[in-house]
Amino acid sequence: MPAIVVLGAQWGDEGKGKATDLLATTDPIDYVVRTSGGHNAGHTIVVNGEKYATHLLPSGILTPGATSVIANGVVVSPEALFRELDGLIERGVDVASLVVSANAHVIASYHGVIDRVSERFLGKNMIGTTGRGIGPAYSDKVNRVGIRISDLFDEETLRTKVEAALDLRNHLLTKVYNRRAVEVDAVVEELTSYAERLRPMVADTSLLLNKALDEGKTVLFEGAQATMLDVDHGTYPFVTSSNPVAGGVCVGAGVGPTRIDRVIGVIKAYTTRVGSGPFPTELFDENGENLQRIGGEIGVSTGRTRRCGWYDAVIARYAARVNGLTEFFLTKLDVLDSWERIPVCVAYEIDGVRVDEMPMTQAEFLRAKPVYEYFEGWKTDISGCRTFEELPKNAQVYVRALEEMSGAPFWGIGVGPGREQTIVPPRD
Ligand code: IMP
Repeated sequence: MPAIVVLGAQWGDEGKGKATDLLATTDPIDYVVRTSGGHNAGHTIVVNGEKYATHLLPSGILTPGATSVIANGVVVSPEALFRELDGLIERGVDVASLVVSANAHVIASYHGVIDRVSERFLGKNMIGTTGRGIGPAYSDKVNRVGIRISDLFDEETLRTKVEAALDLRNHLLTKVYNRRAVEVDAVVEELTSYAERLRPMVADTSLLLNKALDEGKTVLFEGAQATMLDVDHGTYPFVTSSNPVAGGVCVGAGVGPTRIDRVIGVIKAYTTRVGSGPFPTELFDENGENLQRIGGEIGVSTGRTRRCGWYDAVIARYAARVNGLTEFFLTKLDVLDSWERIPVCVAYEIDGVRVDEMPMTQAEFLRAKPVYEYFEGWKTDISGCRTFEELPKNAQVYVRALEEMSGAPFWGIGVGPGREQTIVPPRD
């Protein structure tokens, strides 16, 4: 299976690493590729009992023999990149395999400043961004005043581009946000200071990945953020500024859609979200607190507590559709072990009318009330189960019901954080 996409089907933090772990047990993975987002992501990986967190680097950086690729669709903060690399080097991880696209856009320190001041300016309408400069870097890219990694190697070009980028930004900073202007010289100095260390890592990653696929290598495109945070298909404007959906992988890597073999949507057995924005099944009672506590729902990147709610099958069906999912990977089923009865949102009620698909407008989505179906809990610790048959009957019924209503087969189920805590349900 050469080209596999693993992406988030909800609002992020679905535990995408579990799917990667399961893939790696059957197929050695040759390339692990990030195609969108930046250091706003957070992957927790446990290797030989040691816990690692990556934000910008693909999780493959911890897989011996795999080449890690940061492709053109990613926005790269060189400062964050080197901080992360140095942290891993200190712990004895070999990071020599990393390749960075010459066309990836750069996050400079002023992008972070603009992200944070514009959030403050929005007041109660704030997006709740990670404050890492992701949105401002992508908006510079679309406005055609962005700085690409390749620009760091030619100081004259870099200076011209920084001047163009700061022209409007400085007007905004000084006249609207009442902040100091950013000095062109300081930015040029900041960015050129990274050039020498970056240079050997930089390549044409589209060429590299297409050649790898021609040679039958296994390439894993590792999603960051998730479907409902997609700038086109998510809960706009409460989204990130890139396209984490499957289509975004092709754009973000320079790989055509005909080359992709599998698209795996990772989905939790319940739902979480960080930041602002609508969330129909969100819980404000002790069920929500218990999901948060038992599921350890605290952001890896920002340390923020995640909002929690029940499984939403409307979102699952939507994710299956907009990503063309070939399968789902269900994570954190064990978090539900202690519930007597488990509600699942099967449809919405909007202005008194039942709606089975994602509503067309955000205004309707904001008014959507969940229609619940209830399932008997299993009240048993399932973290030791390794086959579908070992799961208690009620857990089997819950999983099969979710699968039936979610629009793609369940290829794997996670019952704990460990690499081995995975179940592959039998197929008919
Ligand atoms: P930004 O990506 O920092 O611009 O933030 C935009 C929205 O996406 C905010 O609601 C963030 O909380 C959310 N977000 C960004 N990255 C992640 C992630 O890795 N997991 C979950 N939410 C995220």
